[in-house]
Amino acid sequence: MAILTKSYPIKARDYLKAGEISMGVHGLLKKIGFATELIRRVSICAYEAEMNVVMHGGDGVMTIEIGEDYVNITIKDSGPGIEDVSLAMKEGFSTASEEARQMGFGAGMGLPNIKKNSDSLDVISAKGKGTEVRIGFVA
Ligand SMILES: Nc1ncnc2c1ncn2[C@@H]1O[C@H](COP(=O)(O)OP(=O)(O)OP(=O)(O)O)[C@@H](O)[C@H]1O
Ligand SMILES: [Mg+2]
Repeated sequence: MAILTKSYPIKARDYLKAGEISMGVHGLLKKIGFATELIRRVSICAYEAEMNVVMHGGDGVMTIEIGEDYVNITIKDSGPGIEDVSLAMKEGFSTASEEARQMGFGAGMGLPNIKKNSDSLDVISAKGKGTEVRIGFVA
């Protein structure tokens, strides 16, 4: 059963505020007293998923659900969606804009990095249908 559920809105293309939500998630988990290693893994995944909404998605929302022995984060956006999810999961695949690349994004490492640092990952998306990313961690 969840101890706490919290949602944060994410704005597309707001590079100034980008990263604030994952920092908030980091602070929340620290306050609750989770192990440093779990906090590190969740923070990396939350950051990558948040940036993907800022860069590729439409406006969205991140929801974090915290249980005694688990953390789940769900990131949902109303952007253009992903045509081929298995291709998007490949290291180095990126459709990042010139603007995003100039800021140092677009290595195509975000989703692979989420996969590596989480215990479960589901990307539910289709072209024109938005994207939902579900990431699970065992505490
Ligand atoms: N929320 C999203 N909406 C639409 N497309 C997405 C979304 N998230 C990822 N993608 C697609 O999947 C690709 C791979 O994402 P990934 O995070 O691995 O790399 P990136 O964001 O392009 O670069 P990096 O994360 O290394 O800065 C993106 O380039 C984009 O085409
Ligand atoms: Mg990314």
